[in-house]
Amino acid sequence: MAHMLKVLDERCPLKVKPSKVLFIFISVLMHAPCSSIMQNCSRPDTPSLLEALQPVFKLNEIRPTMNISTPTNVSIGFVLFGILGLDEKAQVLKTYIWQDMRWRNEFVEWDPEQCGSSAITIPRKLLWVPDVVINEFMEKNSAPFVPYSYLYSNGFVLDSHPIRVISSCRLDIYTFPFDVQNCSLSFNSYLHRKAVLQMDIFTSVEDILNQSKKVMTTMGEWELIGLTVQTITQPAGDDELYQEIRFFVTVRRRATLYVVNLLIPSCFLITVDLFSFLLPPQTVDRSMFKMTLILGYTVFLLIMNDLLPTTGNTIPLINVFLGLCLALMMSSLMETIIITNLLCGSAHYSPVPRWLRVLVLQILGRLVRLPPKPRDLEDTVIQNPATQEMKVFSVVAADSEAPKQKGQLNNDKALQELRSLGKDLQAIRLQVQQQQQEGSQTSQEWIQVGFIIDRLLFGLYILFISVSFVTMIIIWVKS
Ligand SMILES: *[C@@H]1O[C@H](CO)[C@@H](O)[C@H](O)[C@H]1NC(C)=O
Ligand SMILES: *[C@@H]1O[C@H](CO)[C@@H](O)[C@H](O)[C@H]1NC(C)=O
Ligand SMILES: *[C@@H]1O[C@H](CO)[C@@H](O)[C@H](O)[C@H]1NC(C)=O
Ligand SMILES: *[C@@H]1O[C@H](CO)[C@@H](O)[C@H](O)[C@H]1NC(C)=O
Repeated sequence: MAHMLKVLDERCPLKVKPSKVLFIFISVLMHAPCSSIMQNCSRPDTPSLLEALQPVFKLNEIRPTMNISTPTNVSIGFVLFGILGLDEKAQVLKTYIWQDMRWRNEFVEWDPEQCGSSAITIPRKLLWVPDVVINEFMEKNSAPFVPYSYLYSNGFVLDSHPIRVISSCRLDIYTFPFDVQNCSLSFNSYLHRKAVLQMDIFTSVEDILNQSKKVMTTMGEWELIGLTVQTITQPAGDDELYQEIRFFVTVRRRATLYVVNLLIPSCFLITVDLFSFLLPPQTVDRSMFKMTLILGYTVFLLIMNDLLPTTGNTIPLINVFLGLCLALMMSSLMETIIITNLLCGSAHYSPVPRWLRVLVLQILGRLVRLPPKPRDLEDTVIQNPATQEMKVFSVVAADSEAPKQKGQLNNDKALQELRSLGKDLQAIRLQVQQQQQEGSQTSQEWIQVGFIIDRLLFGLYILFISVSFVTMIIIWVKS
């Protein structure tokens, strides 16, 4: 048959279009009843084998089948050598794979004994190579170029090369950092239809998965947990079919870094904020303390911002969590300011409005187990600064009376003056006391309102922290 090839070579120099070569080739085949081409070597060594293969190399531009209606079967396999990472912003998965392809070149066949070897490596460009590409490919392959393929004596070609795959993948980062991503790698021939190029996989997916797990060196923060395959056949428009082999690579993020660096410090800060409710609200310390905490938290978020994923479409749950932490801190600071205000200045406030009294004192008060006090209680538990002032004033007044009486006993006029002054003072004192009693009634109620809100927020805090802690631990343990 090689002599036929020689004839072909003489008739059509290489300049001729492949389709024309094919046409002539087929027409020659019609007349020559022959099923395969046998290469004969003059000596059993590689140079003579290469010599014998020369006619085949000149046919590298056409699909290597004797009959054009016979499809070429291409087996595809790969080993996932490394998961380089995931770019949430660009929505791409970066992997490094070793891709294998195997198909039969029907123009080649030699006797291993006659030619001295059963396989030979030759530059890939000397033979026809199927145009199998990965559909999701986004960038140029930057893996080292491998120029050789294996050619076996029965005509099979094994082509293997590394690919640095930057593949587009729809990422779902809602559950970050406990997310699992499912990305596809679709192998298909860019041009050939199913009728001329059929694909299947080399080995089972389980083998690919196990092999990948064995050889994988770089996984970064990702762990390969699964691999599935689907063979998809799509209509190509003109009654033909496109075939595609789609692998689904499932990877899971290792969450430890994020839990340790982001979530736990956040929970610590909010716990400290929780404990600051034990500080007395009367003093300024509590609000200062909370303010410092908020400042610290803001700085923490700024530093850790690089760890958070950035995409446009969905807001990850962790951002909501961090935002909620900040919101709780803010609201606790605001509440502290209000409480301090109520404790210091409520004596001058108008009485508590009815709706507020019902809502806060009656309903919320029962909820947080701070029942409303009886209204005619004399002793206030909380010393109103206004009350203290009045007491000091009255004490000073009583003290200033004594030495004057001691010093000048016989000065009647002065005595009378003093007595009337004393009466006046008494009257003023009574009036002030009355006013102050009314005032203390309202201020007491306001203070009660303040305390109820304080305790309510404290409860909310405990609830939020325990729920988020428990949820986090459950998810962490499960993943
Ligand atoms: C190659 O060998 C086969 C069988 O050994 C023979 O039929 C054929 O003619 C030989 N071809 C050439 C070109 O010598
Ligand atoms: C090519 O294959 C088709 C279908 O398999 C067959 O009908 C046809 O005869 C074949 N042609 C040759 C030259 O073998
Ligand atoms: C290709 O595979 C199909 C089945 O998938 C089979 O029928 C056919 O014979 C194969 N062709 C070759 C050239 O091996
Ligand atoms: C990945 O997605 C594909 C298609 O959406 C689905 O068939 C496959 O089961 C998914 N794999 C996993 C592990 O969820």
